[in-house]
Amino acid sequence: MGSNTYQQDTIKRGDKWEALKNYPHGVDDYLHKNHGPWPQPAPDNPVQQMAQVIHLPEEEKEDWKKNVNNMYRRRVLTCWPFGLWYVFKHRRYKTLDDAEFKTEITEGLYSKFMTDLDEGDLSLFKKLRPDLDLTDNESDYFKADFSCMEPIAPNCLPDMYAAPTITLIEKKKLDKDIFGYNPIAIYLYKVNESEDKKGTFSYPVNEKNVFTKEDGENWHLAKYFVLQGAVHRVNLTEHALLHFPFDAINAITKSILPTSHLLFQLLIPHFRLSLGVNRAVLENPGSLISRDKRKFYSPFCCEGVHVRKLLPDGYIGRVKKPNAYPPYDFPLEPKIPDSDFGKHLKAYYDVFAAFVPKVLEQIDDDDEESWLYIYLWAKCIEEWMPDFKTRECFTETEDTNVFKPTVKGRALLNKIVTMIMWDLSVAHATDHIAIHNKRPHGNPFRLRVPPPNKELQPAKNWRDNLVTWKDLLTFWFTDLLFYLPANVTTLENTIYPFSIPGKEIDSEKKTKEQTLRHENTKFLKALKECEKALIKDNVNIPAELKQISTSLQY
Ligand SMILES: [Fe+2]
Repeated sequence: MGSNTYQQDTIKRGDKWEALKNYPHGVDDYLHKNHGPWPQPAPDNPVQQMAQVIHLPEEEKEDWKKNVNNMYRRRVLTCWPFGLWYVFKHRRYKTLDDAEFKTEITEGLYSKFMTDLDEGDLSLFKKLRPDLDLTDNESDYFKADFSCMEPIAPNCLPDMYAAPTITLIEKKKLDKDIFGYNPIAIYLYKVNESEDKKGTFSYPVNEKNVFTKEDGENWHLAKYFVLQGAVHRVNLTEHALLHFPFDAINAITKSILPTSHLLFQLLIPHFRLSLGVNRAVLENPGSLISRDKRKFYSPFCCEGVHVRKLLPDGYIGRVKKPNAYPPYDFPLEPKIPDSDFGKHLKAYYDVFAAFVPKVLEQIDDDDEESWLYIYLWAKCIEEWMPDFKTRECFTETEDTNVFKPTVKGRALLNKIVTMIMWDLSVAHATDHIAIHNKRPHGNPFRLRVPPPNKELQPAKNWRDNLVTWKDLLTFWFTDLLFYLPANVTTLENTIYPFSIPGKEIDSEKKTKEQTLRHENTKFLKALKECEKALIKDNVNIPAELKQISTSLQY
């Protein structure tokens, strides 16, 4: 924003709000003029769910209606015959042999659930599988924890079943630097409803509830309960974390940063439609997780009021399982699973991490106005976002009047902005595409056969009774509306609205704008190269670049 009349000697620690008065902006300088959005506590659960943005500017509501809601209507009206054809062709869930199960849990989307064993898991599996040496140096043990199904299991819809599960995964050295993961035991337990309501649930250790390959059909049945937990967890906790924390940042960016601010220009393409989508998910009566009447496209195995109980697991975590469900803190680095899915996420993250500093370095250290507005932006976000550490981006020492970012602070801001942009594009869209690619009969939301029982083999035809054609049609509609990407803008075509304030003849302005445009072009080229490199390295990519939306649009 260039030089100014700002008087540095008036700026001391704590005087930054005062200093902002030197840089007033009128309503025309803001995206939504005098009706910018703002976060508020979640109506359902103000302390256990993330802040929401409920009152949206009319332009954002219209954009959502035109580009998202109308897509829902169009797809339902025109595509339903394909749904009938699909369920005619697929009457059952996909057969889940051991190789397929291993791929599901350890290589693809659900590989992000692999976590270390905690003390409780160790003592559990030591008791249940005394044959295993859990301290073996050649192997490591992990788990896929779907204890989040505890509040769901006692509240299933009629003739449906669910169970919390913990799957033990062995990591074995196959060759010098090559490792392989293998799910070797499934612990599946029953929830005592009254205990669950009191919140006093703990592991009921019972060797009758652990299943391995030796258990034949019971093992095969148990695998479906694991995937049922995985598909509920990914929708309600992990994927929710890619959606909802960013609403506060989105609204505050639009309401605090003038459109001429470089940080605004960098972030704005990644914020389109997101507020409308998130508000619809949480508050629209037509939502998949509506508190009211269940919709024909809602795939979950219980009513919306119970499904929503999983939302706090992503935000405040699960008290008894903090290593699998930690409380949410704004991450400065992505959590990258050791899998092809993880390689894909990391490779794109690196492209963003190279681009963002090149843009933000165009804000000069002595551009007090820009930094004051970033400070205001960060302080406002901190009110709503746990562990949002942007205040460290600024000099905060007692003995200086100079208001500048530190070197460490710039690096921190780069990381924060990189996370926001990467999350709302690559991380979010990849989840959707990965779930879509499993196809409706590969997502066992509902199970109509009781959980396995060690003392009985399941009925011979249990696979035929696991799901009905109506369930599959429901899942097909879920996929059509919510997983099949409906991109309005795509990442590979993102043009940032870079424009430096000043007169057209200003050579500094011209140079900076040329640099920014050049960096934008380099970024788009780097995205394409990133995909080529992943393919060349034989990475099983979960999403093609051309499918990835710029922002959270579904
Ligand atoms: Fe989403």
